[in-house]
Amino acid sequence: MNLEPMQKAAVLIEALPYIQRFNRKIVVVKYGGSAMVDEELKKKVIQDVVLLKLVGFKPIIVHGGGKEISRWVGKVGMEAQFKNGLRVTDEPTMEIAEMVLNKVNKSLVATLNKLGSKSIGLCGIDGGLMTARAAEGCTGELVRVDSTILETFLAQDYTPVVAAVAQGADGGETVYSVSANLTAARLAVALKAEKLIHLVESTKLLRDPAAPEAPIPELGLSQVPAMIRSGVIPPEMALKANCSVEAVRSGVRSATLLDGSVPHAILLELLSDEGIGTMLTH
Ligand code: ARG
Repeated sequence: MNLEPMQKAAVLIEALPYIQRFNRKIVVVKYGGSAMVDEELKKKVIQDVVLLKLVGFKPIIVHGGGKEISRWVGKVGMEAQFKNGLRVTDEPTMEIAEMVLNKVNKSLVATLNKLGSKSIGLCGIDGGLMTARAAEGCTGELVRVDSTILETFLAQDYTPVVAAVAQGADGGETVYSVSANLTAARLAVALKAEKLIHLVESTKLLRDPAAPEAPIPELGLSQVPAMIRSGVIPPEMALKANCSVEAVRSGVRSATLLDGSVPHAILLELLSDEGIGTMLTH
């Protein structure tokens, strides 16, 4: 990248109003998709999060296990099962999922620590953060979120990394796998976040057929259902879009669907005027 000094200065100055606006504000990033598989992209996501943290944002990362769980399920000779795009988690799968989620979680924490922002890895069991009831097998439906533990760590300047696992609402030992998309949305609401970001596989899917060169820059919440019906927002993206709608309806200022395969997508979205994702607001 060869920018003239004045262009470099312009890029930094464009970021200024957003650095001010997001000062001490919580931004929840649902990490997943291509950015999770590719080590280079992963590093760039973490660099973005560290930079945001160090200029005064309060970022939180939420993640699932993504393709890693299927890979390990395959490794032990079992077969990953999906129903309507969601993983079917029986007990043996859950055992693997817990191990994989822990591995993913600590690897993110280690990278954050290394790149300069002290981080804490948690799952929904820690501090009673999330409780769920059985939906199917070990897949749980999120019933309650208590964000106290996150507030405690945020106040101490940690960047929390949360794995989408919850404890059984009956107080039992059962551990449930919950939707990371919904977890991110519910945590954003509980923490009164300024922004919820979903890193998605590719926003190629979120394009206006009449202007397909770039993602639709902005959507009002009321536009979403019709776009899901017409297929402009395909089923796979609809889950994330609906979580975003729910979050914004419940008080999060805005939610953005962002193509995680673009290096530094988070910085480009948050610290520029135009952004590169699809932003959902009222
Ligand atoms: N940087 C600003 C923000 O994060 C504006 C982003 C505009 N993005 C868009 N997709 N329209 O709030």
